[in-house]
Amino acid sequence: MADIESSNILVVGGAGFVGSNLVRRLLASGAAGVTVVDNLLSSERENLPEDPRVDLIVGSIADPAVLGSLPEDGFDFIFHLATFHGNQSSIARPLEDHDNNLVTTLRLLEHVKGWGRLQKLVYAGAGCAVAEKTYDDAQATKEDAPISLSMDSPYSISKIVGEFYCEYYRERHSVPAVRARFQNVYGPGEVLGAGRWRGTPNTVWRNVTPTFIWKALHGEKLPLEGGGETSRDFIFVEDLVRGLCLCATEGTPGEAYNLASGGDVTIGRLAELINSYAGNEGNIESLPRRTWDHSGRRFGCPEKSKRELGFEAEVQVEEGLRRTVEWTRENEGFIGRCIQKHAHRLA
Ligand SMILES: NC(=O)c1ccc[n+]([C@@H]2O[C@H](COP(=O)([O-])OP(=O)(O)OC[C@H]3O[C@@H](n4cnc5c(N)ncnc54)[C@H](O)[C@@H]3O)[C@@H](O)[C@H]2O)c1
Repeated sequence: MADIESSNILVVGGAGFVGSNLVRRLLASGAAGVTVVDNLLSSERENLPEDPRVDLIVGSIADPAVLGSLPEDGFDFIFHLATFHGNQSSIARPLEDHDNNLVTTLRLLEHVKGWGRLQKLVYAGAGCAVAEKTYDDAQATKEDAPISLSMDSPYSISKIVGEFYCEYYRERHSVPAVRARFQNVYGPGEVLGAGRWRGTPNTVWRNVTPTFIWKALHGEKLPLEGGGETSRDFIFVEDLVRGLCLCATEGTPGEAYNLASGGDVTIGRLAELINSYAGNEGNIESLPRRTWDHSGRRFGCPEKSKRELGFEAEVQVEEGLRRTVEWTRENEGFIGRCIQKHAHRLA
């Protein structure tokens, strides 16, 4: 059986939110060496732990010189997490999304084809590219759900085409690619404003959870779109990176696995919980529903991952949010400096 311990591992996009948490877990699991390739587009090098086993290569995985600098057939596992973060940035800058969210995947797969030592390449897929778009009677999305031609953003297009390439390179070139699909990850290590400007205020106000927590801790109203009735499958980052490791050690190449909690929480409820943990009386600011987002209620079906990987999300949203509020308090200075880099564009 594949094992992380004593392995050499490449994490593409490893300085990011999920990536830096994954690197910590890999080190704690006894990895011999972790090479991170990251161009710091949406991350800061401080995200990465200080450890002699970590080697950070700053550059794009789509750059042939960066690929050429990697040891030939030198890794037991690859985790591919690089992305142009996220939906709204991709709408503002679709060509940059293409370069950093899709060409990255193609170049990486093309480079590693024929590597015999590689046991698994785990690709970070996005649940939003597959979930049904409904506010009504939402069902848990299974791995074999039909895939629509109609996508909400270039980001979703890149993520799903990345899955197509994974499957093509597996069938044609025996690259042992496993596709992990997840939805809204939250937790320590998601730094508002990390990296460079990507064209919209969402460069700073990334996902809903860190945005709400920051605003709540600063006594601001939480911006609630469309009455807060939209819901998402929230998964705590520690659960998620455990699931990614299980995809690497237990996953079958060619398969997709939902790393999902299996339930949904409305954004309204999320706002209530965060305001209460942060002690914010600033409450809520009601905004219209955002025009590009057609996803109403959505959550992933966790059954296959439970059956085949032994994966189950363990951290309840209440506990996960409490811990994330605490981490944000402790890292206020660092996060504040990252937000401040972009202040002139937000004004
Ligand atoms: N966070 C979520 O809720 C979520 C949900 C579903 C899927 N995902 C997927 O998980 C992965 C990690 O997401 P995240 O939330 O940690 O985002 P993130 O923005 O924090 O991390 C992405 C990393 O990729 C790096 N990157 C961008 N372009 C690159 C390039 N050309 N070469 C090398 N590195 C590059 C960025 O600098 C960043 O460090 C992504 O693939 C994302 O699509 C995330």
